[in-house]
Amino acid sequence: MGRKQKIVVLTGAGMSAESGLKTFRDSNGLWEGHDVMQVASPQGFSRNPELVLEFYNQRRRQLLEVSPNAGHHALVTLENHFDVSIVTQNVDNLHEQAGSSHVVHLHGELFKARSTVNENHVLEWKKDLVLGDLDDRGHQLRPHIVWFGEMVPMMDVAAQITQQADMLMIIGTSMQVYPAAGLIHHVSSRTPIYFVDPKPNIRSSDFGNLTVIPKTAVDGVPTLVNQLFDTLI
Ligand code: APR
Repeated sequence: MGRKQKIVVLTGAGMSAESGLKTFRDSNGLWEGHDVMQVASPQGFSRNPELVLEFYNQRRRQLLEVSPNAGHHALVTLENHFDVSIVTQNVDNLHEQAGSSHVVHLHGELFKARSTVNENHVLEWKKDLVLGDLDDRGHQLRPHIVWFGEMVPMMDVAAQITQQADMLMIIGTSMQVYPAAGLIHHVSSRTPIYFVDPKPNIRSSDFGNLTVIPKTAVDGVPTLVNQLFDTLI
């Protein structure tokens, strides 16, 4: 048995839409009701920390109520035949809940908190996070989320993983936020790319080996996974 083919899966908010979590830029998306710079930037946090903490408390409470969808589960079955790495822009843990064994979070994790002073001091955190919740040195804790304008520490790891992909899947992302969206340029022109999104925001002509599947995650991912298994047998 040769080495397993490496599949890298880049996911965005659309991956979790059918689990009940809002996307950002769809109609009545998350950014429609909020000023991004007020609730998801370091400036916003220093200006009005309670507003920012409450924004993430609402999203954390909701995450406790939702479950992975058939798209998440299909990606887990992919691991039976392939070496699968999930590189997600999502801060939910639905890939982990479904059972994916290798997940890289580019924009942080909702169920973690970290020190405002020592960014490497990260804690599991599933309850509300409020002013006065401090790290072990007495510094205020903050959501372990990459805010607009902040560095994306996992980007190098994600780029190295993507470069090694024998196949790239991109699911449920508008490809508008960098550097995450730039990962598509890290695969060779021969690497097949499958793009699953009901309103795909990509031009097939831009890439050598791109298949656009204009479907939702629940509809498109299990079908794509089954097709890949069929080609194996
Ligand atoms: N299945 C698959 N894709 C879907 C579904 C669905 N059921 N519903 C919507 N989509 C697609 C939309 O068509 C869109 O292309 O999901 C994408 C969502 O795009 P965005 O809302 O921009 O989310 P995303 O691309 O993940 O945003 C990237 O921006 O706001 C920041 O840090 C935040 O990680 C986020 C980043």
